[in-house]
Amino acid sequence: MSRSPANSAAFPPAFSYREVRKGLFRRSSGTVLCCDEVPLTQLADRFGTPLYIYSNSSIVRRMRAFDDAFGKIGHTVCYSVKANSSLGILRLIAGMRCGFDVVSGGELERVLQVDRRAARKVVFSGVGKTKAEMRTALKAKILLFNVESESELWALAETAATLKETAPMALRVNPDVPADTHPYISTGLRKHKFGVPIAEARELYARASGSRHLRVAGISVHIGSQITDVAPFGAAMERVADLARFLREDGHRIDYVDAGGGLGIDYQNLSLPDYSEYVSLYAQAVMRPLRGLKVHLLLEPGRSIVGPAGALLTSVLYRKTNDSKKFLVVDAAMNDLLRPSLYGAYHEIVPVVMNSRSAARRESVDVVGPVCETGDFLARDRELPILGEGDLLAILDAGAYGMVQASNYNTRPRPAEVLVNGRSMKLIRRRESVADLFRQESF
Ligand code: LLP
Repeated sequence: MSRSPANSAAFPPAFSYREVRKGLFRRSSGTVLCCDEVPLTQLADRFGTPLYIYSNSSIVRRMRAFDDAFGKIGHTVCYSVKANSSLGILRLIAGMRCGFDVVSGGELERVLQVDRRAARKVVFSGVGKTKAEMRTALKAKILLFNVESESELWALAETAATLKETAPMALRVNPDVPADTHPYISTGLRKHKFGVPIAEARELYARASGSRHLRVAGISVHIGSQITDVAPFGAAMERVADLARFLREDGHRIDYVDAGGGLGIDYQNLSLPDYSEYVSLYAQAVMRPLRGLKVHLLLEPGRSIVGPAGALLTSVLYRKTNDSKKFLVVDAAMNDLLRPSLYGAYHEIVPVVMNSRSAARRESVDVVGPVCETGDFLARDRELPILGEGDLLAILDAGAYGMVQASNYNTRPRPAEVLVNGRSMKLIRRRESVADLFRQESF
């Protein structure tokens, strides 16, 4: 792999090559990519492909490093469920006493399914919460509603009134801070649908505090996702800190500041610092503007916890050449991993078995799936060792926004998911069957 070995030594990667004894598994001779200690060849034999694979230890290590970076200041890490919402992953995270950030009633139900008591550490964001979702969240007694518009504020007050409840709320403010990321996942500018303009927030807080069924509890912000420069996070927090001071002057109780998520990962050799150092730079940027405010900080990381801990394993179905253009047709497609097609996202792709033959000869190929669209690709013009039909490839950094964005397009059942821990492995989602897909339909 082209990732820096120095970094790997400091913060072990979820996937690394190991010498595997010849003949132990069907396809293993030479060096085999492993998740923790399990060769991916073994996982392919047992569970088939395409297959999502996650490293339990890597998720735990990343979560701990993230949490530790905020040191002793009062904070709760509310894992952003949208990044990977599989129950097996949520249970692992709930076991670490984390909170959760949800954006739908469905995500909330997932959290409650793995741990009923986790509700008191749940924050609920999103521009289109329905009253039914609000009701579920109020009954579950979640920690905080991040309200994104005045209309939503009154819907929440009404819903709380019908339940004779008081909803703890923060306004999600839009700080108008640019962040260098894909335009589809940047959220902190005035032109975006998210939050309320920070300049209007003071007025809205005043109105909210007039309702008996709303309890002003904090301020929230989220400027976007896959942001690898920590400066914009600091800039957003400066604005939030100023607002917190004004709101306190106005007599509001601002107990919480929710800094959102968004810390990016190294998809493409960006030479980011080692993860522990990287999260501590992020934590410093977020905490510095809040110094002296004595607020409880909420954080909503998703990608940076689970992204590098997961990979999508796929098999080469066919090699083909159209004129001089070479293609590897693999059994994973845009319906399994949408990020390359939707955002033009780069995911590193590596062969699972490395031997002297594959290391020596390389070629430029498009890695494409079986879906009937030109937009169905996993990589374009990618330099890879020369691979044959039946060979296995791992698409790295697929633990976040991979399975959650998978669909059944082309009536393709979604992949299975396996959670690896050291030498053991657990199937956390069985492979869908075509019969599963028919179950909801009638004719
Ligand atoms: N909090 C809020 C309010 C969010 O909207 C998001 C992500 C997060 C937290 C978590 O952000 P993270 O730490 O994962 O960057 N599908 C896209 C990413 C969409 C992100 C949406 N919001 C992708 O595949 O890149």
